[in-house]
Order: sequence, then C-alpha cells, then structure tokens
Amino acid sequence: MVKLGVNIDHVATLRQARRVDYPDPLEAALIAERAGADAITLHLREDRRHIVDSDLFRIAQSIRIPLNQELAPTDEMVELALKVRPAEVCIVPERREELTTEGGLDVAGLSTRLASIINELRRVRIGVSLFVEPDPRQLEAAAKVRADHVELHTGAYAVLADRDLADPKRKRNWEFSEPTRYELQRIRDAVKSARSLGLRVNAGHGLNYLNTVPIASISGLQWLHIGHSIVARAVMVGMGRAVREMKTLVAGAAGARKALRLKSKS
Ligand code: PXP
Repeated sequence: MVKLGVNIDHVATLRQARRVDYPDPLEAALIAERAGADAITLHLREDRRHIVDSDLFRIAQSIRIPLNQELAPTDEMVELALKVRPAEVCIVPERREELTTEGGLDVAGLSTRLASIINELRRVRIGVSLFVEPDPRQLEAAAKVRADHVELHTGAYAVLADRDLADPKRKRNWEFSEPTRYELQRIRDAVKSARSLGLRVNAGHGLNYLNTVPIASISGLQWLHIGHSIVARAVMVGMGRAVREMKTLVAGAAGARKALRLKSKS
C-alpha cells in the first residue's frame, strides 16, 4: 500500500499570517502521527515564509515516524539537513516569487551539484529524493546522479483532474478528458521507467480529496506527500468544534466578572 507523508507547512502559514505562536506545526505533526500518517513532510524555504528553523528542529526531535525534509539545493539547507538528520530529504527547485513549488528540478542541468549533495547526505545515511516532472530525461538523469527516490510532480495532472471532477457526472465514473488521461498516463509511464532504472518512486503536489485515488492506485508508488488539501480540510472539519468552544467561553464570561473585578456598565 502506498504510504502517506503529511506536509504540515500550511499550519505554519496560518501562524505566520499573524506572527503569533499558534497554530503550532509540531502539534499538527503529532496529531497527524496519531492519526496514522506514515511520515511528516516539511519544507524550510530560504525565505522562511512558513516553516522556520526552530520548527524543523522541534519536529525532528519529537516525532517517531520518519521526517521528510524538502529543501532547495543550497549550502545552507544541506548544512541544516546534516544537523537535523531527517530520514529523507527531497530536493526541490525553489524560486522566491512562486506561491508553491511550481516545477520539477532540471536534474541534468544541475547534475554536478546534485551528485555532490547526494554523496554528502548519503554518507550520513539520509535518503535522497529528487522532485521531478514525469519526464524520461529527468528520470535518467536522476538515476545517473544516484538518487534513491524520485518524487513525481503531480501538479499538472491535479489541475486538469480537478477541472474534470468538478462535473458530478464525470466524478461518478472517473471519466477524465483527453488532457487529463494523457497526464495520468505520463505519471504511470514514469513510475514504470523510474523503477526499471532502479529508483524508488514517490509522488505529490496538488493532490486532494477529489483527485488522489487515481494516483494512489498506481502500483509501484511508495509514498504520496500531501499537504495543502489536508490542512484545508482540517480547518473545515475542525470549524464546528472551534466555534462551539468559543461560544461556551463567551457564554460563561458573565460568571467571571467578579473574579476579573470588572465593573459592569450594564
Ligand atoms: N511534494 C513536494 C516536493 C512539494 O514541494 C510539495 C509542496 O510543498 C508537496 C509535495 C505537497 O504539495 P501540496 O501542498 O500541494 O499537497
């Protein structure tokens, strides 16, 4: 069965929107662990827009399931990974102006740098995955630099599938349009090719409660790394309880007046 890495970056996005100390991504990671997540995934970006260094260290020290650290191929990030020793890193391209990781790595173009990072991390037994488009040239280049895994970028499939699955008729029968079928086939073919090159294969990006099943059903995939949709769903399934808790607090406030020595004007 394909395993699930839960990416908790966007719990930190919510915290950073107010620069306060909640919600805590460590607490989210521990809840995810208790709920059956097979790994925790996070991305410490160069601009620290969501996860910050202390999150990385606290989470690495506290979870019992493996940590998958996504990182840009920079000296700073490799040094941090060498300190933190996650079970695995996934090397991703990073551009400051992007909202999220928009494309896969150009493995061939970066092969010297990647090969050196992979050697360095492998020496301390950190597995290395490369985030790539489902493109045979990238898979061959990933095998050449001796990566352990590739993570196939499912973003293009996800956008197309969501468009199709918004139609309830299509959703009922998994009836995909030609462009979606093409993207899905590209991912299936990439899983086969990568495995035949000796690579282990993961996938992720843009996967959600609508579009994940066709990807999760591909045999030979080891891990799915999913973040934004799980955090978004957590907000919705938790909203009722959060409101009830605040209502109870507000309703009980009158009884606290005396203790608070507040003069009521009413
Ligand atoms: N895999 C990689 C390599 C990523 O960069 C991301 C986004 O941080 C994800 C998976 C998760 O994507 P999403 O948040 O869209 O589920």
